[in-house]
Amino acid sequence: MSSQHFVLTGATSGVGLSLLKLLLQQKVRVTVLVRSPQKLTALKNKDEDNLLQIIECDLLNMDDINGLQQYFQNTTITGLIYSAGMGYFKSISDHSAQEITDTYNLNVVHFNLLFKVLQPYLATKATIVGIGSQASHITQAYAAHYGASKAAFNQLLNALRLEHPNYHVMVVNTGPIDTAFHQKADPSLTYAQKYQSIMLDADTLAKDIINGIIWKKTEINKPYWMNVLLKFYNLAPRTFERLLPKLFKNKQ
Ligand SMILES: NC(=O)c1ccc[n+]([C@@H]2O[C@H](COP(=O)([O-])OP(=O)(O)OC[C@H]3O[C@@H](n4cnc5c(N)ncnc54)[C@H](OP(=O)(O)O)[C@@H]3O)[C@@H](O)[C@H]2O)c1
Repeated sequence: MSSQHFVLTGATSGVGLSLLKLLLQQKVRVTVLVRSPQKLTALKNKDEDNLLQIIECDLLNMDDINGLQQYFQNTTITGLIYSAGMGYFKSISDHSAQEITDTYNLNVVHFNLLFKVLQPYLATKATIVGIGSQASHITQAYAAHYGASKAAFNQLLNALRLEHPNYHVMVVNTGPIDTAFHQKADPSLTYAQKYQSIMLDADTLAKDIINGIIWKKTEINKPYWMNVLLKFYNLAPRTFERLLPKLFKNKQ
């Protein structure tokens, strides 16, 4: 991957940070779009090959996204990885208007805006990776907007693959990962503590994603057992919801 140039979001934490470290190890040139550049100062100081470019960009700010063009003139982007994402584990009525719009904007709408801004600079066979969620395959109380936004993201990426067969589009549907995501989603950490034992490791997932890019996979579904269970669930979702109501309210 050494001659490639990837644009990465969410690079300051969790899966995005693990991906950034791996890409730099592989000698990939990486441009990160982050709202807190100071979080990457230590990594930048170690970047002897000058592979890392840090651009300050709040992905909830449309002006920041539209202003990115100036940084990409005369460059070719071979890959875009959208790892930024957020969600709130609370009831539909408890979400504030701001929390609802932020969730959809960051997880879906502004990915599309970013894609439109970067598209003129994408290589003909560029790779586009979206970190989705297994939440897109299941109805869950107390995480409705997160799940709905990830389901929309999933549909958007799958349609992008159909509309642009020249691109390699890969969706990563993952179960719970041991990252800072949970502190923001549910500051009480009730869900995170309950499911700690099944949480994926961000570094391991990042390795799987890099392999998926190399082998041109269209989907990564982790953990495997969860994906199999969700396939059964989708055969009769309302019946399962009626029979096992607690399972669908585990983010309460
Ligand atoms: N963790 C899980 O259990 C889990 C499960 C399924 C799917 N996912 C998905 O995996 C992806 C990565 O999540 P993670 O677990 O690595 O979470 P994380 O550790 O919370 O990282 C989220 C990243 O998104 C960035 N971000 C948030 N809002 C932003 C904004 N307005 N502008 C720019 N960047 C912004 C954060 O930047 P700051 O450092 O500035 O906050 C951070 O770098 C997300 O799409 C998430 O939905 C996570």
